[in-house]
Amino acid sequence: MGAIMKEALLHMLTENEGQFVSGQEISNKLNCSRTAIWKHISELRNNGYSIEAVQKRGYRLITSPDLVTAEEVSLYTGKGSFGKKIVYQPSVKSTQEIAYSLARDGAPEGSIVLADEQTGGRGRLGRAWQSPAGTGIWMSLILRPEIPLQKAPQLTLLIAVAASKAIEKVTGLEAAIKWPNDLLINGKKTAGILTELQAEADSIHSVIVGIGMNVNQESKHFSEEIAQIATSLAIEGGKTYKRAEVIGYLLQEIESLYHQYLQNGFGVIKLLWEARAFSLGKRITARSVTGSITGYAKGITDEGVLLLEDDTGRVHSIYSADIEI
Ligand code: BTN
Repeated sequence: MGAIMKEALLHMLTENEGQFVSGQEISNKLNCSRTAIWKHISELRNNGYSIEAVQKRGYRLITSPDLVTAEEVSLYTGKGSFGKKIVYQPSVKSTQEIAYSLARDGAPEGSIVLADEQTGGRGRLGRAWQSPAGTGIWMSLILRPEIPLQKAPQLTLLIAVAASKAIEKVTGLEAAIKWPNDLLINGKKTAGILTELQAEADSIHSVIVGIGMNVNQESKHFSEEIAQIATSLAIEGGKTYKRAEVIGYLLQEIESLYHQYLQNGFGVIKLLWEARAFSLGKRITARSVTGSITGYAKGITDEGVLLLEDDTGRVHSIYSADIEI
């Protein structure tokens, strides 16, 4: 109950940002005592919110910190159902595992898990994913699509399109997609997507979409080697961004594309993906555990599989690989 009250109080203060809200008004709306209000104001202050309190006038929100807590993110999730249920923990090994167990326990579609820091963040192809505190978005989203198993890769491409659109809305910068799901700004990786699923026979129980996005890292946060290939929204945009706001945009873009996809199929998503693709029409090398193939990236299939034409003219279907350009 306390958490809901605190969230509602934060909503009231944010809606009236810069203006005083009287204790009486808060107490009437939230149906709570002046003492309870004071307790929540103190908690918010401890969390980094700067709130002015003036006798007879009430409370005024001056600045809010860059947090990805449930109450902060809920300010930006809009009217949709994605992000209605938020599980936040300051530090976790990986948000993927938490989302898995939530999904197993029946959490609804659109539930998300967020952490400020991951100590064992996982990337594609068994790699580690650096997830330091206070800098990026480390999020897992639960989906429950009623689609056949072989169509699941389409979801990865859908998420990549949504993330690209969200980045453009927030920063005004173009975010290109490198197959299948790396997001590049000015040729450097700023976000990655890890899609994992729980399925039985041909039916999908749940899809756990892990999204990692570098938001406020500065160049000095990256090692010299990583700085060659990675970047952040702040480095490219020349200013810092509120992570909670970026998450809000992300969830709204994902939800709207996802509903469109369930209603009309993959066609529109495929077009949007191709329009943002970085590797199509280029000569690339696809490296996987079974070897590497160099050739011309012709396009993607209706299933989201990459088609690569080698120098003998043979076309290979690439399901999973690292792409070098
Ligand atoms: C990649 O490009 O290799 C995918 C990176 C995915 C990272 C995210 S961060 C949130 C979620 N939890 C994880 O452990 N990994 C994903």
